[in-house]
Amino acid sequence: MAEVSYRRASRLYPGSPPVRAVDELDLTVADGEFLVLVGPSGSGKSTALRMLAGLEEVDEGAIHIDDRDVTDVPPKNRDIAMVFQSYALYPHMTVAENMSFALKLKGESKSAIAERVRHAADLLELTPYLDRKPKALSGGQRQRVAMGRAIVREPSVFLMDEPLSNLDAKLRIETRANIASLQDRLGTTTIYVTHDQVEAMTMGHRVAVLKDGTLQQCDTPRNLYERPVNAFVAGFIGSPAMNLKTVAVGDGGAHLDGLSVPLPRATLASSGDTLTLGVRPESLRLAGAGEDGAAMTVELVEELGADAYVHGTVRVGKQAERFVVRADGRTPPKLGETVTVAITRPEEVHAFHADTGLRLPTG
Ligand SMILES: Nc1ncnc2c1ncn2[C@@H]1O[C@H](COP(=O)(O)OP(=O)(O)OP(=O)(O)O)[C@@H](O)[C@H]1O
Ligand SMILES: [Mg+2]
Repeated sequence: MAEVSYRRASRLYPGSPPVRAVDELDLTVADGEFLVLVGPSGSGKSTALRMLAGLEEVDEGAIHIDDRDVTDVPPKNRDIAMVFQSYALYPHMTVAENMSFALKLKGESKSAIAERVRHAADLLELTPYLDRKPKALSGGQRQRVAMGRAIVREPSVFLMDEPLSNLDAKLRIETRANIASLQDRLGTTTIYVTHDQVEAMTMGHRVAVLKDGTLQQCDTPRNLYERPVNAFVAGFIGSPAMNLKTVAVGDGGAHLDGLSVPLPRATLASSGDTLTLGVRPESLRLAGAGEDGAAMTVELVEELGADAYVHGTVRVGKQAERFVVRADGRTPPKLGETVTVAITRPEEVHAFHADTGLRLPTG
């Protein structure tokens, strides 16, 4: 059991100027929490994880596990187990041997090792494969062996770096549910890295969003979705992505051709002549004949069964801007058709400062 805290921790790679791969990261992960680190490629997720594991130096700041400053503690003394994307299984060892290896090095007794391996194999449904070599396993089974190797060590923190990226889509969904429930049962503090925001939202108790080495926001999935602190988080979290457009303000709201979006006075007071309006596809709808709305020319319809995502262009000032609207999957419009787009729930509209990208106050 452990609480992890990054205290203004930075990692600089040499260069001119140096690359701040992780920049003054301030983040506390509670005991037993499942925290997901998410962000685009190169945002510093793996570096942040490796700093905690001791595989990467901390150039500024510190990292604590409970009351202990581990900044300069060697990896093997940190009581952490890491699961890598590549799994890094020993090919010449059986599943049981792979799982026992770290315990043997620690000098655990044979009977204690056998008991822990049996228990982990049971949890992960690996019992029938204990005598096989990794090459005789499927991708999903190998992934579970990599998990098993971490579990048998009974560490105080699990670190996982994109552990599902080698699995096909269906197996990923199954496995992410299994990992989440396993973490829940074991109650071990876990930091999980992914670039997949859906994985992040479905697995994490909280999700920390990184961009260019800088923490943008760390919050529950719901709060990230409903109250993103800036336009980057707004656009990164949610699929299909939020429509984010620079629009003119005036007269109590923002204005697109044919569509006025009323905005609270506090929002307007802190924006300039323009602001970045954010509307999720599900907060928009296709309006019926005669209703007010913005005219959109349909360019692409993604039919998903129950829903259809309708992509098209809307004129905003002099520009043609692309929008995505969620529509009823049973009656999708046709390509080239002109439809009317209206806002279903004005209270779900987001507004960000046009220059800084920061969320504008609403009250
Ligand atoms: N050994 C290194 N030397 C120099 N720069 C590095 C080194 N390792 C990583 N970087 C840089 O640090 C930044 C963060 O890299 P990191 O691997 O942490 O990103 P990531 O978020 O894990 O990306 P991905 O999703 O692609 O795995 C990147 O700009 C990367 O190019
Ligand atoms: Mg990475």
